[in-house]
Amino acid sequence: MIRESLPDLANPELVNSVAEKAARATTLLRNIARDYAPVVFANSLGAEDMVLTDLIWRNDINIGVFSLDTGRLPVETYELIHQAEIHYGRKLDIFFPRHDAVETYARTHGSHGFYDSVGARKACCHARKVEPLQRALAGKGAWVTGLRATQSTTRDKLKVIAQDTTNNLVKASPLSDWSEAEVWVYIRANRVPYNRLHDRNYPSIGCAPCTRAIQPGEDVRAGRWWWESADTKECGLHLVDGRLQRISKQEVEA
Ligand code: ADX
Ligand code: SF4
Repeated sequence: MIRESLPDLANPELVNSVAEKAARATTLLRNIARDYAPVVFANSLGAEDMVLTDLIWRNDINIGVFSLDTGRLPVETYELIHQAEIHYGRKLDIFFPRHDAVETYARTHGSHGFYDSVGARKACCHARKVEPLQRALAGKGAWVTGLRATQSTTRDKLKVIAQDTTNNLVKASPLSDWSEAEVWVYIRANRVPYNRLHDRNYPSIGCAPCTRAIQPGEDVRAGRWWWESADTKECGLHLVDGRLQRISKQEVEA
C-alpha cells in the first residue's frame, strides 16, 4: 500500500468490519486444519501473509507455516523472518531450491537471465519457487495462501476454497475477499510485524531483482516483473489446471 493512502484506524466501522472478517478467517482456518490435515500455509512474508501468520500462530491453529527461500529475497524479507520468529516465538519451515537446478539455470541463462525472456524468467521461478513448493506440499491435504482476488487480473476469479488440480490438494485463500486497506487495518490494529519495504511503496514483494517500488495510482503488482505484460505476471505457484487464468470446474465455495 502506498504510504499516503494508509487506512484510518479512527474509523470504527472499518475496524469492526475487519475484526469480523478476521474472526471468519480464523474459523475457516480452524475448519481447514480439522478437515484436511495435514495443512500448511505458504508464507511469503508479504502483508497478507503476515495477517495469516498472526491468525494462525496467535490462535495456535494446527497449520504448518513454511517459506520458500529463493536465495534472491530482499534483505528486508530476511530481517522480517527473524523479527517474526522472535515476535511469535516460533520458527518457519524454510524450503530452499535444489542446488543442482540453480547451478544449471545459472550456467544456461546467467545470473540475471530472467530479464531476457518470459521463458527464462519462468525457468528461474520454476527452479527457485515451484519445485521447492512441490516438495513443501507433498503429502499435504490442503495449503493456505494469502492471495486476494483484487491483486491482479490473473486472480480476479479466486475462490476461498478450490481444488488445486496442479498440485492435487485443496487450496484455501481465506483473505480472497479482503481489500488491501483491510489488510493494513488488521496489521496496524494488531501490531503485526511487516516488511519495511512496504513503507517504501512496495505493496507486493518477491525476489529482489524482480521487485521494485510503484508510483501512486499504479496497480499493486506493477512493481513485480515490471518488464513483462500484466497477464504473464505469475511465477507458477498459482496455476489453475497447470495454466494461468483458467478456473477449475471442481472449485467449491467455502
Ligand atoms: S507470486 O506468486 O506472485 O510470487 P505473491 O507474492 O503475490 O505471489 O504471493 C501470493 C501467495 O503465494 C502468497 O500469499 C503465498 O501464499 C505464496 N507465496 C509467494 N511467494 C512465496 C514464498 N517465497 N514462500 C512461500 N509462499 C509464497
Ligand atoms: Fe527468479 Fe525473479 Fe522468479 Fe525470483 S522472482 S525466482 S529471481 S525470476
